[in-house]
Amino acid sequence: MLSGAKNSALKLLAASLLTDEPCTIRRVPRITDVATMVAMLRALGADVEHAGDALRVHAGAALNGCAPYELVRTMRASIIVMGPLVARLGEATIAMPGGCNIGPRRIDFHIRGLEKLGATVEINHGFIKIHSSQLKAAVVPLDYPSVGATENLLMAATAADGETVIENAAREPEIIDLCDFLRGMGAVIEGAGSSTIHIEGGHALHGVDHEVVADRIEAGTYLIMGVATGGEVTTKGLDPMHLELFLGKLRGMGVDVRVADRSITVRRDGPLAPIDISTLPHPGFATDLQAQMMALLSLAEGTSIVTENVFENRFVVVDELNRLGAGISTSGHHAIVEGPRALSGSVVEAPDLRGGAALVTAGLVAEGVTDVGAVHHIDRGYEDLAGKLAALGADVTRVGEGPRTGEGPPSSLSSYDEASPGVRAGAGGGGT
Ligand code: EPZ
Repeated sequence: MLSGAKNSALKLLAASLLTDEPCTIRRVPRITDVATMVAMLRALGADVEHAGDALRVHAGAALNGCAPYELVRTMRASIIVMGPLVARLGEATIAMPGGCNIGPRRIDFHIRGLEKLGATVEINHGFIKIHSSQLKAAVVPLDYPSVGATENLLMAATAADGETVIENAAREPEIIDLCDFLRGMGAVIEGAGSSTIHIEGGHALHGVDHEVVADRIEAGTYLIMGVATGGEVTTKGLDPMHLELFLGKLRGMGVDVRVADRSITVRRDGPLAPIDISTLPHPGFATDLQAQMMALLSLAEGTSIVTENVFENRFVVVDELNRLGAGISTSGHHAIVEGPRALSGSVVEAPDLRGGAALVTAGLVAEGVTDVGAVHHIDRGYEDLAGKLAALGADVTRVGEGPRTGEGPPSSLSSYDEASPGVRAGAGGGGT
């Protein structure tokens, strides 16, 4: 069964700061980024309790508005507390997020949008200080449909008297999930999932009980692994529309793709055809599936071109994939993926979350053992990857049982190629 989406759960946790009533968030993935966000909420003065796969957040009166550097440095997504803090407290002091190895990760759209809503913003000594005695509704056009900027502005706008309009808003399913959460709190929002979102601010927000939307990137990752290993994999709990273009690309490769109400089954019917991919904001091809697709395209019968349009530097994993026998060359925003390649196991190191998933994908197919190091990157966004893969028939073990919180010595995940290489389920298909 799929976990709740990392890229929604983190924002719903931040949105819980908008009310002094308790919020319950269900199907929260057990991943280290959630642990970091929980630590952030506690640092801000909120109470957070675990209850099975749910978290109960109570941001009562003792809230402060200072997001510490150590936590923002650990997880850039922490800046998503900016909007709710300004809305709730009228001020926030947030450490400037660093870049990460997929790009500088600027936050200018966030800052300019909050200024449009009447906030004053100062940046010095590595901190962003935001203040607003009263946020005011405005039309806020985004230069680019930034997911994080859309989310920060959505949450801030709930406290701005009047109707705020976000133009060129992000359309990801996680944005819709956040809007559903905010509506459950009493917010008045129209246009979620479209490029223009209307927020009628000024309503006092109350607690909510909400289940996180299923993780489409986790689903896409397991589907890619199933195709790569010639298995048959079914994901359950996700609306297939959340992966529409991605599933079309798999079909274009010759994969048998079947969808039902909330399940997706892929089965490889023969040789894989090469295809070209360009990552774009949703509903375009998800950049978070780009690295995993490069591993899959290494098995296709021909050359594929992958164009990364969202992040400046998201081909970091290419060298490690080539160590496993892939034949990928890059030029600017383009990667040329030669295929089919006979992959062979080796020791590699995950450069980031989705690069790590790409290396595990390649390792499931490679001849011999592949050791993927720095698995703490993978723990940031995949709940129990080794366990879920083993349940699908893969020979994957986690070695060097470092704590799953991402602290401590990096451990590595090994995948073994034996009689039944990689991810394979029985005739009836495996499910996750
Ligand atoms: C979210 O990042 C996701 N992270 C990313 O997933 C995802 O890849 C990305 O959206 C795009 O879908 C979370 O939700 C926690 P953006 P975010 O703002 O909000 C530039 C994963 O692997 N930009 O849409 O940071 C930015 O530099 C992660 O799960 C500005 O220039 O994405 C980037 O090039 C990786 N100025 C592009 O826009 C800004 O103010 C997209 O960024 C903001 C962004």
